Amino acid sequence: MNTATLETLQQSRTVERIVEGVATSDGAGVSLTRVLSGKLQHRLDPFLMLDAFGSDDPDDYIAGFPDHPHRGFETITYMLAGRMRHRDSAGHEGLLENGGMQWMIAGRGAIHSEIPQQENGLMEGFQLWLNLPAQNKMTAPWYKDFPSSEIPGYTTGDGVTVRVIAGSSNGVAGAMTREITEPLYLDIHIPAGARFETAIPPSHNAFVYVYRGKVKVGDTQVETRRMGILSNAAEADGVSLAATADARLILVAGKPLNEPIVQYGPFVMNTQEEINQALEDYRNGKLA
Ligand code: FE2
Repeated sequence: MNTATLETLQQSRTVERIVEGVATSDGAGVSLTRVLSGKLQHRLDPFLMLDAFGSDDPDDYIAGFPDHPHRGFETITYMLAGRMRHRDSAGHEGLLENGGMQWMIAGRGAIHSEIPQQENGLMEGFQLWLNLPAQNKMTAPWYKDFPSSEIPGYTTGDGVTVRVIAGSSNGVAGAMTREITEPLYLDIHIPAGARFETAIPPSHNAFVYVYRGKVKVGDTQVETRRMGILSNAAEADGVSLAATADARLILVAGKPLNEPIVQYGPFVMNTQEEINQALEDYRNGKLA
């Protein structure tokens, strides 16, 4: 754990809207909550999807995500609890477990599988999709596993603990830094009665998702399993979060791309022609 130099905010963002995710099933039958999807992709540009999964019933996760393709974006899987094995068509293989994170740049394409390595117990975490700019959508695929010990973090004087998955917060650089979209991804634990602040550039789109307890942003309470979309105001230079009860949440922010988004399932491109090409390449085995 690092010692952070806490930033002083001029003004906090407020909550523009509370979003309740939609319960759904994906892969071979994994139960999850889709918190961010189609309708919010423009508002939360460059983020395309956020799935939250959390269950101690193996029927909800045991089937996993067998072989499937991706093209045109990045996936960030953050595991709070559980074990999942990743394999892809480029020969990569890795085990993702308690507190670890996997960052994949699908680029021009990869076929991969994500299969649980446990038959009981809790499986909990998030998968976030981050868009790639048009100029990088056909880049070579890349991925890296970060075990929990390789995710930087810090603790504040108020006992708030922060894990910096991407970007930087209060002077602490995270496990990943990405150009262009400049994602910030924090896992924050705030004890009851404490407050936490971090800087976010005003033009970046940002949200919080509370997975334990609740937090207050200004006058708005964000309850458990709710996303709070944070307003963009030129004079707001960050966000201030207060916990009335012990709270755990993720905070995600990024610089919008302002490019057309055309999605067909696991392919996210800029035009319909590029989607057709992705489908043709997949059928012809060119994503493998
Ligand atoms: Fe996937």
